[in-house]
Amino acid sequence: MTASMRICILGATGLVGRETIELAQRAWPTAELALFASRDQTLELAGRTWPVSAAAALEGDAAPRGDLAFVALDDEHSKRYVPRLLELGYRVVDKSNTYRADPQVPLVVAGVNARLVDPSVRLVANPNCTTIPFALACGPIATRFGLRSATVSTYQAISGAGIAPLDEFLTDAARGYAAPDRLGRPFASDRYAGNTVPHNGKTDESGFSAEERKLTFESRKILDLPDLAISAQCCRVPVAVGHYINAWITVGQSATAHQLEALLGDERLAPYLRLVRGTAGDGLSALTCLTERDRAFVGRLRADPRNADDRSFCATIIGDNLRLGAATNAVRVASRWFTSADPDLQSPYP
Ligand SMILES: NC(=O)c1ccc[n+]([C@@H]2O[C@H](COP(=O)([O-])OP(=O)(O)OC[C@H]3O[C@@H](n4cnc5c(N)ncnc54)[C@H](OP(=O)(O)O)[C@@H]3O)[C@@H](O)[C@H]2O)c1
Repeated sequence: MTASMRICILGATGLVGRETIELAQRAWPTAELALFASRDQTLELAGRTWPVSAAAALEGDAAPRGDLAFVALDDEHSKRYVPRLLELGYRVVDKSNTYRADPQVPLVVAGVNARLVDPSVRLVANPNCTTIPFALACGPIATRFGLRSATVSTYQAISGAGIAPLDEFLTDAARGYAAPDRLGRPFASDRYAGNTVPHNGKTDESGFSAEERKLTFESRKILDLPDLAISAQCCRVPVAVGHYINAWITVGQSATAHQLEALLGDERLAPYLRLVRGTAGDGLSALTCLTERDRAFVGRLRADPRNADDRSFCATIIGDNLRLGAATNAVRVASRWFTSADPDLQSPYP
């Protein structure tokens, strides 16, 4: 990309923003990065001090114009800044929930439906951090065998809640584990450390939380399967990074677990996926994702014994929620507009 390319990162001091800085440097090494957060400050990252400006500066007449913006803010602030960035001429990838349900805005997983990102598109919504690895595993299956239904149970890392809850969790965990107790009594039953809790924010009259509704709605939109029978239950487990997903799926045509493995182990047909062969799941833990942060892992593929017609399978899917589940996908999406210098961040796939 040209030396004059200008990239804005909003929410640069947050967990996803920091990862985005690192990846943007890999993808577009000569680009100028402009970082924004809640206020003027500096950010120490990877041995470098970065100036960060208050995002409110983007609202004034002197706001800098540019080429590409990554927005890693909460819903309320995305709603405030995305329209302004578009007005300033940026192409935008938004990582919040704000635009995901908008029929005018493509919701894109690189490796599944990045074909939607053509030069006419100026805003793309980045899906939820559980939806991305789930869609990477299910997309090739849907294409090859059809996908009828999915039941999903997630075990999500605390970093998915943002930097403040993560830091609080790490402090609580250090304190709790320093006080040996075989029942875990030093931990509070309404906090994350040493605990498993429902991911129950914004539970509505349906009885499902926002996280559960996102996974079901977004999967249907990305896989272009509006009638997919899908249900999810989500919880948080005391892990810093790495979302772990158990899924029960039913495909449209008879298949074997061996055929699913052959498909998901072929990088040309199943991009950005690492297959862990066999049913035991050795080498398939939440922290495995830190060994390859820009891939989803899938394994434990086996027939579901409840169904004798060779169409139902169990699987485990894992992804680094900050990278594969957020920043990496956003950069790969943007590589459809601006060619990446790093081939692993370039999305050549549909
Ligand atoms: N964490 C994940 O695993 C994950 C995965 C996928 C998607 N997402 C989504 O990505 C977005 C960011 O998540 P995160 O985990 O990175 O959050 P985070 O760690 O809590 O970071 C939030 C960022 O927002 C900035 N901010 C707060 N108030 C602001 C304001 N008034 N004006 C401008 N900036 C403001 C913060 O800046 P200061 O440092 O100045 O406060 C910080 O840079 C959210 O929409 C989240 O749902 C997160």
